[in-house]
Amino acid sequence: MDNCNLDCETKAKLLHYKQEHLLCIMETLSINKKNKLMEQLKHIDFEQLMTILQQKDQQKIQSPNVTPIHYEEWDDYGEKEQDAFTQKGMELLHNGEIGVIVVAGGQGSRLGHDGPKGTFDIGLPSGKSLFQLQGERLLNLSTRAGKSIPWYIMTSPENHKDTLTFFQASHYFGYPPEDCFFFQQNTMPALDHEGKLLLSPEGLLQLAPSGNGECFSSLKRSGALADMKKRGINWLFYCNVDNALIQIADPAFIGAAAEYNHPIATKVIEKTNVDEKIGILCLNDNRSSVLEYNEIPEDLRNEKDENGRLRYHLGNISIHLFRIDFIEEHADTEIPFHIASKRMDCMDAEGRSLSPDEPNAYKLERFIFDFFPLAEQMTVLMGLRNNEFAPVKNKEGEDSPESARKLVFKLHREWLMAAGVPLEKLPAGDIEISPLLSYGGEGLNSRSVKELLEKD
Ligand code: UD1
Repeated sequence: MDNCNLDCETKAKLLHYKQEHLLCIMETLSINKKNKLMEQLKHIDFEQLMTILQQKDQQKIQSPNVTPIHYEEWDDYGEKEQDAFTQKGMELLHNGEIGVIVVAGGQGSRLGHDGPKGTFDIGLPSGKSLFQLQGERLLNLSTRAGKSIPWYIMTSPENHKDTLTFFQASHYFGYPPEDCFFFQQNTMPALDHEGKLLLSPEGLLQLAPSGNGECFSSLKRSGALADMKKRGINWLFYCNVDNALIQIADPAFIGAAAEYNHPIATKVIEKTNVDEKIGILCLNDNRSSVLEYNEIPEDLRNEKDENGRLRYHLGNISIHLFRIDFIEEHADTEIPFHIASKRMDCMDAEGRSLSPDEPNAYKLERFIFDFFPLAEQMTVLMGLRNNEFAPVKNKEGEDSPESARKLVFKLHREWLMAAGVPLEKLPAGDIEISPLLSYGGEGLNSRSVKELLEKD
């Protein structure tokens, strides 16, 4: 097909879908940019975009359809049962049945870090990045399990190269490179509030990573799913990139999930603050679901039970386990898009670049937990917030590097105390213990405190 034909075809499409503003903008672009834009437009599914926009208002959650979901509390199991779960989890890790995926394709715009979020150093004395904290915990666990745990890292076209470069420069934090699998997720174009495709200030389509819900299809497309099958992996442990206390591939959680053997298991924590920005787990129309924090109807958000506890108190911390057969079954399943209104720099119809103060664009994203209603049953396990949740989302205040650091120091101090280190021997200041030495507080009593601490 020559350029003119392509031009005519694309023009007709743009007119049909009321995108004629792009024709005006093209007049202002250099041939090179115009060709690039035309190439991008060839891959746009306009019909899909229009359908997503039309369904925007039909997606509102109806409070009467929502009810609490059954869950298990880790602390309610006896010691024997807890040990049996942990042992089972270790066995599965040893047998190579567990893979780990970290979804790291997000833009991390709230944190304002210039680079992939996983490369962010939250200011611990060791200076370790979020990726390194995860990698070293995995390394520790792999050593204990006697088997290297395959680590799948989902990036986006925006941060793929930088992520790879970071891992290479850091020598994969000691992790075997052949057990690290990097793959890119999909993107979707941003639209303005009238449904018109938005251009970047450079004159190309504004493409943004289209949510962590793209992970199943991206696993399949990239060959990562086939790699898992080849390795004999039966469960995939899923987590965010930004939790500084992530108990990655937690054997106890894996053992419990395997015991119930539902297609999905998720770990939750108690949500006590109504305004906390975490999704809640519940039943929606009798199916397991997460209501995202910005979509929870006001009446549900505040509802209390007879004991004054939040009725919807199961907070989503993005720690899930998926059975591989479930991922295979749903790798091509279309889950809905969520639409968020965001502020984005762009180019106007005259080719001028704009930097609006107010949200001007719709960003389209799929959420991983929209696969939950597709499972007949799910295991929901309540864990302890202080042991495993230190999110890094904002520059300062709540869920910031500072709040995450404090949580790490507090937990590591508690580990030393539990290991019997006398109070007078505990340092007064910050305590950070390397994940290479201890995954979850184990094995600390035999060393001197000085040896255990990460240095400035
Ligand atoms: C997410 C959860 C929320 C949960 C909270 C816990 C979703 C949709 N929401 O919220 O329910 O309570 O974490 O901390 O998951 N990502 C991609 N590709 C994308 C977008 C995001 O890989 O296109 C990754 C991010 O890099 C990050 C994770 O998904 O690792 C979560 O994304 P983020 O935007 O931080 O979600 P939250 O709003 O914090």
